[in-house]
Amino acid sequence: MPNQPPAPMPPLFTWEFAADPYPAYAWLREHAPVHRTTLPSGVDAWLVTRYADARQALADSRLSKNPAHHSEQAHRTGRVGIPGERQADLMTHLLNIDPPDHTRLRRLVSKAFTPRRVAEFEPRVQRLTDRLIDTFAARGSADLIHEFAFPLPIYAICDLLGVPAEDQDDFRDWAGMMIRHGGGPRGGVARAVKKMRAYLLELIHRKRGGELGEDLISGLIRASDHGEHLTENEAAAMAFILLFAGFETTVNLIGNGVFALLNHPEQRARLQASVAAGETGLLTTAVEELLRYDGPVELATWRFATSPLSIGGVDIPVGDPVLVVLAAADRDPARFDQPDTMDLARRDNPHLGFGHGIHYCIGAPLARLEGQRALATLLTRLPDLRLAAEPGELRWRGGLIMRGLRELPVSFTP
Ligand code: HEM
Repeated sequence: MPNQPPAPMPPLFTWEFAADPYPAYAWLREHAPVHRTTLPSGVDAWLVTRYADARQALADSRLSKNPAHHSEQAHRTGRVGIPGERQADLMTHLLNIDPPDHTRLRRLVSKAFTPRRVAEFEPRVQRLTDRLIDTFAARGSADLIHEFAFPLPIYAICDLLGVPAEDQDDFRDWAGMMIRHGGGPRGGVARAVKKMRAYLLELIHRKRGGELGEDLISGLIRASDHGEHLTENEAAAMAFILLFAGFETTVNLIGNGVFALLNHPEQRARLQASVAAGETGLLTTAVEELLRYDGPVELATWRFATSPLSIGGVDIPVGDPVLVVLAAADRDPARFDQPDTMDLARRDNPHLGFGHGIHYCIGAPLARLEGQRALATLLTRLPDLRLAAEPGELRWRGGLIMRGLRELPVSFTP
């Protein structure tokens, strides 16, 4: 109808928004695609919601990842949202630094964290997946977040890093503290980060002293580039970010993914049949579609304008934080056909779920492997898996960056 006023902007950061942020993001994409807002923490930031703008911003070298570039006003108000900030040396990791340091560290870790190493890891991921399902398969019910999605990536990354089996439950506890309390350098998170740091430094020291193996930490210690090595602190920060960036993300890929499948019975049945027939094609596109449709990372991590720039025609002042809303970009009708429809067989799917540009997810091959093994094994071993709650009753974790369920109660025939 002509002259009809636009619908008012839906509120951001409420509980309803956490359960389903997509209508609000659709509104922003259409009416205010580069939008300055006050976050729940009190910090002002720009939200970028269109696909083309998001891609451009993720690759723009004028947007720094270094929190020191955040304007003073924000520093005075206290928080830029980075957990455990006081553990400064662990925080000097890939997601908080720019070239040339980023280039050097990323090159070194790429030498150790190779696609081949990940591919060789597949049988271990499969064993781990089966072992976790064994713990609840006879019961007929489970909370798939706590009993499956949460431990799987922790144990997988511990194995990959070379954390001895007897220490892995400590890691599980520390990671649990970090995920439960979300961002913020206070209390449990800071303690957990501190313990993890001490442990990692000690482990690196021990391995360096003669216990080098085939694991990733040994690879990090060995990696050299033009004679340059990682220092012990750099190796500890690298191990920490691999764990931190690879943990809650993968929990959410499995949690959001299973939830989406249970809400789309026809497509789930098709995937189940395809997996049972031993095919991998649909499983591969399905994981990509789940990353696009309801991905684990709702907003890319903080970026700060270091010189004046314009995004989508909007001028961003120096020092302002920019948050690229991956969840909004990945539902942009200007790029995706029927973006609000989940289509496990979608082919044209250049989603931003793993980011874009120099900070593109280094763990993407491992995440895909874990996601594919987790979903395929659940569908095969628990073929009548069903939700044991109304979808609307489930609670979502309220953090800013990640999107994931607090719990996912399911039942099945034992
Ligand atoms: C970076 C997503 C799993 C390690 C990123 C970024 C995204 C992302 C969006 C870029 C953030 C930005 O530019 O602000 C995901 C998703 C995952 C996943 C959706 C699971 C489904 C993993 C795993 C690991 C990992 C398993 C490692 C074991 C990293 C690291 C970075 C990163 C180290 C920083 C790279 C850099 O700054 O150069 N991830 N990730 N991620 N991810 Fe992942």
